[in-house]
Amino acid sequence: MFYTTDTNRHGLAHDPFKAIVVPRPIGWIGTKGEDGSLNLSPYSYFNAISDRPKMVMFSSSGRKDSLHNAEETGVFTTSFVSRHLLEPMNMSSASVPYHIDEFALAGLTARQAQLVDAPYVGEALAVLECRVTQVVEPNTLSGEPSGNVVVFGEVVGIHIDESIIREGRLDMSVARPMARMGYMDYSEGSDVIELKRPPRS
Ligand SMILES: Cc1cc2nc3c(=O)[nH]c(=O)nc-3n(C[C@H](O)[C@H](O)[C@H](O)COP(=O)(O)O)c2cc1C
Repeated sequence: MFYTTDTNRHGLAHDPFKAIVVPRPIGWIGTKGEDGSLNLSPYSYFNAISDRPKMVMFSSSGRKDSLHNAEETGVFTTSFVSRHLLEPMNMSSASVPYHIDEFALAGLTARQAQLVDAPYVGEALAVLECRVTQVVEPNTLSGEPSGNVVVFGEVVGIHIDESIIREGRLDMSVARPMARMGYMDYSEGSDVIELKRPPRS
């Protein structure tokens, strides 16, 4: 099948787009409002964009609280979602009023980051502390603002739980990272295949 996205007539019961760009890592974004309120929400329009310097991004579909706080304070954290945190992660995506603390809502421990004024998930096996470098609202083809806002951040500090370190590497069979597939589906990225890069010619 082929269809154009201007009409989006795919004829399926559910829009397949988000099931094609998979698996997506989940950025579990921790922020603090200037009023001191804590916020935690998952974003799967999230990724690392470089390692020199270490940078990540997340994209807010509309102006959500994480974006508001990250713009206001210039910082955020992102906590690693392991299998044992899947349900609390989902719970933290609830649409709740600004002042509601999703850490408490999901039964999680909010820990204060070391270098930035933002909370992270105490139960997470790895955490990135980030400073906002840019906030960009991409345009559509017609030149109109898309309504999606991308927050770029540079990673300034990294927490790793010693329990996931084996022989100098992070062991995915212990870390059990969750990825978002299409729809409401998730997969566990612990089934690892090692493949060496081709030699330089
Ligand atoms: C796994 C998962 C991934 C999500 N990814 C995004 C995303 O990339 N962008 C977005 O705007 N909302 C995303 N959401 C929905 C937000 O988490 C939800 O709207 C949340 O209430 C936003 O919270 P906030 O207003 O505190 O930032 C996702 C939800 C789940 C469960």
